[in-house]
Amino acid sequence: MSSFQSTRKVFSSLEPFDAAAWDRPFSSEDRERAVDGLEGGRVLYFKNLPFRLEPREKVFLSAACSDPETKHISLGPAEGRLRGANVDSSEAHGLARMMGRYAAHAQNLLNGLFPAYALSLRMGRTGFYPHEVQEREARSYRKDDRRLHVDAVPSRPSGGARILRVFTNINQMGKAQVWQIGEPFEAYAGRFLPAVPRQVPGLAQIQSLLGITKGVRTPYDHIMLHLHNRTKRDANYQREAPRQEVVFAAGSTWVVFTDQVLHAAVSGQFVLEQTFELPVAALRRAEQSPLRILERLAGRMLTG
Ligand code: CO
Repeated sequence: MSSFQSTRKVFSSLEPFDAAAWDRPFSSEDRERAVDGLEGGRVLYFKNLPFRLEPREKVFLSAACSDPETKHISLGPAEGRLRGANVDSSEAHGLARMMGRYAAHAQNLLNGLFPAYALSLRMGRTGFYPHEVQEREARSYRKDDRRLHVDAVPSRPSGGARILRVFTNINQMGKAQVWQIGEPFEAYAGRFLPAVPRQVPGLAQIQSLLGITKGVRTPYDHIMLHLHNRTKRDANYQREAPRQEVVFAAGSTWVVFTDQVLHAAVSGQFVLEQTFELPVAALRRAEQSPLRILERLAGRMLTG
């Protein structure tokens, strides 16, 4: 317990915004607040920014839509093909259309909020979570997003690029999505970094040659993956670490760097999510990024 006292003070995790449309310009004051908040490790919260379903899309609000194994449906950018869906081909078309529309909305929102990122943002996968979080029994602790963690990409080395995600609660019954948000990244990384083993020399090259990873895993990716797994496995940390519970209302949207903000899903059902990648060079204050924080703590460069 005592090791957590220094960070047990309450930190406010949410930065609220009034916007009620996906494609309106933001005031310069809101844009400043957005970039400061996001890069500083807060969650930008749009309480009144729903994603409107078409009447025929309401059939997708069912846990039966997804593969009972993965409990999660995803769509690659410009791909049109769903993964993890358990629907017939005509429904698959409608579902992919709905998710594609969400992806476009999310992109419009970020372009309006972060004009300085616009040219650097790379669109990643779109996700749909139709299962109740509490019933999302994971196959392994590593896949259990109900434990505090920061996101890391195991199969595709990021080389330090940021993971920026937009989420929208599309629950039509008024049910909120509840998360926990953990301590700031620097305090967290300082706690776990000393126990991360060095990369085995040559292993990253072999994994890339064998197609286990798409590209060579950098020391940064190695550390982030270790942090992700170690944290989820650490029962003491999961039980005792400082955290704040946050509630995302039905019909709300939130934007967060999930590679920086410790998060755990607690409860809720029916969330859409859009992932973007952003190079560290596009940040206003790169020194706040996990890459630069880890480099400071490790005392060495961690990418290529
Ligand atoms: Co996550």
